[in-house]
Amino acid sequence: MAGESANWWQTGVIYQIYPRSFQDSNHDGVGDLRGILHRLPYLEELGVDAIWLSPIFTSPMADFGYDIADYTDVDPLFGNLADLDSLIDAAHRHQLKLILDLVPNHTSDKHSWFVDSKSSRNNPKRDWYIWRDPAADGGPPNNWLSEFGGSAWAFDPNTNQYYYHTFLSAQPDLNWRNPAVRDAMHDVMRFWLGRGVDGFRVDAVWYLIKDDQFRDNPLNPLFQPGGLPRDALIPFYTADLPEVHEAITGMRRVLDEFPDRVLLGEIYLPIERLVAYYGRDLKGVHFPYNFALLTAKWEARSLAQLIDEYEAALPSGGWPNWVLGNHDRPRLATRVGPNQVRVAAMLLMTLRGTPTLYYGDEIGMQQAAILPEQVRDPFEKNVPGIGIGRDGCRTPMQWDGTKSAGFSEADPWLPIADDFREVNVNSLSKDKGSLYWLYRRLIDLRRKHVALAEGSYKPLMASGELLLFYRELRKERVLIALNMGPEPIAVSFPEERVSGRVLLSAFADREGEEVSASFDLRGNEGLVMKLDSDRRDN
Ligand code: GLC
Repeated sequence: MAGESANWWQTGVIYQIYPRSFQDSNHDGVGDLRGILHRLPYLEELGVDAIWLSPIFTSPMADFGYDIADYTDVDPLFGNLADLDSLIDAAHRHQLKLILDLVPNHTSDKHSWFVDSKSSRNNPKRDWYIWRDPAADGGPPNNWLSEFGGSAWAFDPNTNQYYYHTFLSAQPDLNWRNPAVRDAMHDVMRFWLGRGVDGFRVDAVWYLIKDDQFRDNPLNPLFQPGGLPRDALIPFYTADLPEVHEAITGMRRVLDEFPDRVLLGEIYLPIERLVAYYGRDLKGVHFPYNFALLTAKWEARSLAQLIDEYEAALPSGGWPNWVLGNHDRPRLATRVGPNQVRVAAMLLMTLRGTPTLYYGDEIGMQQAAILPEQVRDPFEKNVPGIGIGRDGCRTPMQWDGTKSAGFSEADPWLPIADDFREVNVNSLSKDKGSLYWLYRRLIDLRRKHVALAEGSYKPLMASGELLLFYRELRKERVLIALNMGPEPIAVSFPEERVSGRVLLSAFADREGEEVSASFDLRGNEGLVMKLDSDRRDN
């Protein structure tokens, strides 16, 4: 429980912006910093507390900004340093924290560090990256695979060695065993923290350290032909190595030189491995992103179990968090379907822990259909058809029903989803029963009810498609009942006297209704109820 001294990153809602797709201000079809600045009032009205920007740094855009050529400058596509300074100031004036993406695992192959490193075997930067001699047959040094398909080793004919890349060959991995690399990245952090940035989401952080003996990864016995090529091996020697925690603690130490900042880790691992990233004495990341709901079966019993497992696995004092969408996974509205999209919103905003909301999910943006000739995502290009097709969740924000959905006056870099004339901020904000308004009310409720923002999570026995839990802090008790199926459910508590009232309902038509020991839920309905055991007046 966070208690009275809870931090902003615990009680607040984080909103992820994919800058290329939020708002274009200079008519080039790509979103930019001034565009984001212009939309800050929208974010303040929505009620979120922090924004996290996917990378805006100088980049050749091989992986749309996750390939960085200069960590301490802004790519001209997005604006310049002065624009970022203005955005930081304006965000703070709008009561919004600003989190940047830190990409420490790899640079762009155009970064001067790599250009130097590649120039000769004797260059002082040679050991800033991971270089190895070819195998006896001239092939790659070992069997390690790239996340984006093919070998993780790229050959440099000039110096006759291979370099390692977890992702694209245009994204060479830094050598985190080299203290000079750590120092350089720490300086990058200080550069931004000194400019007033409130923290970092750290990209791909569980990949930072690789086996120093370069042993082959074992074959994955569960691999199915036709699956993602990388899944043919178990990344035993390339990911989640014990020494990674020491590297993260180093970053955390730098972060803690500045007051009230946050370090969040992007880590895709099973829950029992994930929670190790809170670090010894909670000196790792403030929280490792919990992506369990992105792939979970949308079914009440399995979700109840997953939530219990996660809560049970958290280290003492470790703060939870939940994610329903991001720029790497198919859109929420498409995954859960139109009937469950409101229930999903209610789940995200009522579970214990920090919610991260992906731009456009608040209006129910769908995974857009991308034609083969429209594909931009390098992962999809490398592994066509079985890549995870990340373009469809990165299409421009749908602001209104005009051409290009109010995103840009030019042709946008990715197509606008087909439904933009109906599904857009302008039309949904005029309809108080819309999904957009449900998110607004949910975010507002978290502000008003400390039990929702900080209270404990208490699951209640339930069956079928019913998910039932309390959030509780001191005398305040909030009951959440979610119907994850299309059939009505009669809820009853035979053993307890329950009374209270509905604070918020999925279809915005039961607010204020009295609640007793039994009540009904319509199909796909959720209710947030305040129970009378709370004697405070609010
Ligand atoms: C992270 C990012 C993803 C990117 C990859 C390589 O997983 O979320 O978008 O492609 O890192 O940087």
